[in-house]
Amino acid sequence: MSTVSVTRRAHFNAAHRLHNPSQSDAWNEATFGACNNPNFHGHNYELDVTVRGPIDPATGFVVDTAVLHGLIDEHVVGQLDHKNLNLDVAWFADRIPTAEHIAMFCWEQLASRLPAGTLANIRLWETPRNYVDYDGGT
Ligand code: NI
Repeated sequence: MSTVSVTRRAHFNAAHRLHNPSQSDAWNEATFGACNNPNFHGHNYELDVTVRGPIDPATGFVVDTAVLHGLIDEHVVGQLDHKNLNLDVAWFADRIPTAEHIAMFCWEQLASRLPAGTLANIRLWETPRNYVDYDGGT
């Protein structure tokens, strides 16, 4: 049976501040630069969610992209869009809201809602030039 990857792209805007409270202000400024701005700042995030699996012979689909779209809208975009990640999203209460951690959040929101083992990759673009990939590894 053929295995195919299907990717759905989503978009959200969010504000964040990268800051490690266990480190000094100087360390934070040197490490995170403009992303340490105390008054927060925003990014236009692009999210590519890739599902990989066998083609269902009844539909010809690996996954119904309308279903995938709905899951992403409700459980990722609905949770993050136009939010301050540091202040509004409990998952980031004890995690620095880097692109790496946001990608992990997206994975956790979606993996259990898709057929087991089919979520293959989360690609999160924080800028048009920087993205991270997370495949559920530890
Ligand atoms: Ni930033």
